[in-house]
Amino acid sequence: MNTVEPIAISVGKTQRVRSDIWHSVWTDTIVAGPPQTPLLLADEDIVDDPTTAADPELAPSINNRRRPNATNIPRMPADLATGDAADAPKTPAVSTAVDRLDVRSLSLTLPNGRQLLSNVSFSARPGTLTAIIGPSGAGKSTLAKLVGGVLTPTTGEVRFAGHCMSDDYAGLRHRIGLVPQDDVVHHQLTVRAALRFAAELRLPDAATEERAAAVARVLEELELTDHADTRVDKLSGGQRKRASVAMELLTRPALLILDEPTSGLDPALDRQVMTMLRRLADAGRVVLVVTHCLTYLDVCDQVLFLTPGGKTAYCGSPHDIGAVLGSADWADLFTRISADPDTAHRDFLTRHGAPPAPLRAPSSPTAAPPRLLRQTSTVARRQARLVLADRGYLAFLAVLPFILGTLSLLVPGDTGLGVADPYSRAAEEPVQVVFMLSISAMFMGCALTIRDLVGERSIFQREQIAGLSATAYLAAKIAVYAVAAATQTAVLTAIVVVGKGAPTRGAVLLSNPILEMYTTLAATAIVSAIMGLALSALAKSQDQILPMLVLAMMLSIVFCGGMIPVSGRPVLDQLSWASPARWGFAATASTTDLATIAPLLQTNDALWSHNTCWWLLNMAMLIVLGTTLAAAVRWRTRLRLARSRSARQTAKRSCRPRPLPPCSNPLKLRETTVRRMTPTQTP
Ligand SMILES: Nc1ncnc2c1ncn2[C@@H]1O[C@H](COP(=O)(O)OP(=O)(O)OP(=O)(O)O)[C@@H](O)[C@H]1O
Ligand SMILES: [Mg+2]
Repeated sequence: MNTVEPIAISVGKTQRVRSDIWHSVWTDTIVAGPPQTPLLLADEDIVDDPTTAADPELAPSINNRRRPNATNIPRMPADLATGDAADAPKTPAVSTAVDRLDVRSLSLTLPNGRQLLSNVSFSARPGTLTAIIGPSGAGKSTLAKLVGGVLTPTTGEVRFAGHCMSDDYAGLRHRIGLVPQDDVVHHQLTVRAALRFAAELRLPDAATEERAAAVARVLEELELTDHADTRVDKLSGGQRKRASVAMELLTRPALLILDEPTSGLDPALDRQVMTMLRRLADAGRVVLVVTHCLTYLDVCDQVLFLTPGGKTAYCGSPHDIGAVLGSADWADLFTRISADPDTAHRDFLTRHGAPPAPLRAPSSPTAAPPRLLRQTSTVARRQARLVLADRGYLAFLAVLPFILGTLSLLVPGDTGLGVADPYSRAAEEPVQVVFMLSISAMFMGCALTIRDLVGERSIFQREQIAGLSATAYLAAKIAVYAVAAATQTAVLTAIVVVGKGAPTRGAVLLSNPILEMYTTLAATAIVSAIMGLALSALAKSQDQILPMLVLAMMLSIVFCGGMIPVSGRPVLDQLSWASPARWGFAATASTTDLATIAPLLQTNDALWSHNTCWWLLNMAMLIVLGTTLAAAVRWRTRLRLARSRSARQTAKRSCRPRPLPPCSNPLKLRETTVRRMTPTQTP
C-alpha cells in the first residue's frame, strides 16, 4: 500500500469528518473489520459546517492527491478494495446500504442449454476499478450486460446499493452508466450538442442552467472542453470514447460499466483511457471495465478472469494473478485457461469455496415515468439537426424531388392531367404522369428513412435503457421525416403542375384539385417514410438497406396498379392491400379522375372513382397502414432488454429457478427471453 503523509487528525467539537471520507471509513470497517493502521486525515477532510460535507465533486481532489498518477497508483489492500473478492483474503459478506456492487452466483443459460455464464460472484466498492478479462467469447460482455441490468440472469443476482437490479431496475437505471463497445454518440453532432441533447433526455427535471452546468462538468472531467465544438466524427478514437463516457456521466452514475473502451486504440490512448477510468473510480464510483488490453491492469483494484463458458478462473488483485495462476505470461495463461476452463474454475473454487448467498432486498427506489412530450421535442430537434448536419445526404434529399419532377416531365404528350385523346400517340400520358408522381413520392419517403434506425441502433438502445421512451423516439422521427417528405412532395408537385398542368377534373373533397393531389402525394410519401423506418428496423446491418429499398420499390411498382392491373386479380389484389402504393396511387387517381382522363386504361378499379367516398377510403387506408407500420416499428424497437411488469413481479415472488421458454433458434434469442431472476439461488 502506498504511504500517505499524515497531515492532521484533529476533529474538534464543532467539526465533522467530511461525509464522503467518513462514509468510506465506515464502509471499510463494516466490510473488512477495523483498520489495521491509524486513520489518516487531511485538513480538507474535516469540515466546520456539516451541511457542506457531502460535495461529491471534492472526492476526486482528495483521491488524486493520494493517487498522483495512474501508473503509480496507491491502492487499498485487495480485501479493502474489493470487499469479499474471491481471491482476496476472505471477509464476511456483509450488505451495506452504500453504493456497493454485489454480484452473486450469476449464471446465464440459453434455452438450448448452452451456458454463457456460470456462477460468477464478485463485489466492488465505491472508488474501485474492476477489470473483466478473458478470452474472446468467454462471456465478458454478457456479464457487463447482466451487471448493467440489461439482461436478467437465469440464476443469481446483482445488487447495487443494496437493491436488486432485477427488482428495482427502473429506479436504479439512472445510477448506472453503461458504455457499450459501439460508440453511442451521433457522429454528425458536435460533442457539446450531443451532450446537450443527452442532458435534456437524461435530466428531464433539471433547469436549463443545471443541464448546461452538467455538460460543462463532464466536458471538464473528461478533458473534452477544448473539443466541445468539434464534430464527433472528427475526434480521435480515444476522444470519441471519452465522449461516450461523458454522456454516461451526465447523470452522475455511481456504477459505470464500460465494454472494451480501449479496443482499436493505440497503446498511448489505451493508457489514456485506463487512466481516465482510474480517475473516475477515484471520484467514488464503482467502475467495471471489460478489456482485452492487459498492459495497464495494474491500475485496477481487482481483476475478474473469465474462462470460456463464463466461469471464474481468478478474482482478486492484478498483482497476485501471476502467483495464483502460476504464470505471468498472459498469452500462456489465456491458452491454458481456454484449453481447460473447467480445471481453471475448479482450482478457483478449491482456493475460495462457494460464494456467499444472495442478500435480501430493501425497499425499491421509485422511477419517474418518462415524459413523452418533452422527450419527443428533444429527439425531434436533435433529429432535425442530424438531418441538417449530414450535408451530403441533405444535398441528395434536396435535389431528389427536382430530379424526379424533371423525369416526370419526360412523359410524352402535352395533355398532362387532362382527358387524353385515345387516338393520339400520347394516349397513356395521364396514367404515366400519375404513376410517376406516386412512385416518386414513395421513393422519396422510403429513401428518407430507410437507413435511419439501423444506423443508430446502439445509440437508441442505450438511450432506451437510460429512460428514453420508444414511443417518443418514434413519434419524433415520424414528425421530422413527415415535414421533410411533405416538403419534397411539394417541390415534386409544383414541378409537375408547372410542366404538365393541374388536374382538370376538379377536386372531390378539398376545394382545390392541386391541393388535393398534393395531399394524396404527401400522405403517400409520409406513409412510405414510415415503411422505410419499418424496413430500417428490420435490417440487421447497413448492407441490407439497398436490397430492401430495391425490393420495396419493385413491389410498390407492381402493387400500385398503375402499371400492372391488380384489381380483380385474386391473390395479387389482396396482397396489394398491404402496400401503401396501392392506396396512395388510388387516392391520386381518384383526385385526377384517372378512369376518365386515360381512356385506354384497361383497369376498371373502383378505388380510382372520382368521388368523395372512394377518395376518403383510400386516404383512410393510407392512414391505417401508416399507423400499423408505426406500431410495428414501435414493437420491433421496444426495449426487449427491459423487464416486463409481470416478469418483475414473478422475479420478486419466485426464488426458485424456472425453466426457460423454448426458442427455436438460439441465435435469434432476444434478451428478454433470457431475463430470468432467481434471487436466492445459490450454487
Ligand atoms: N443473445 C445471444 N444468443 C446466443 N448466444 C449469445 C448471445 N449473446 C452472446 N452469445 C454467445 O455468448 C458467448 C459470450 O459472448 P460475449 O459477447 O459475452 O463474449 P465476450 O467475452 O464479450 O467476447 P469478446 O471478447 O469477443 O467480445 C459467445 O459465444 C456468444 O456467441
Ligand atoms: Mg465482448
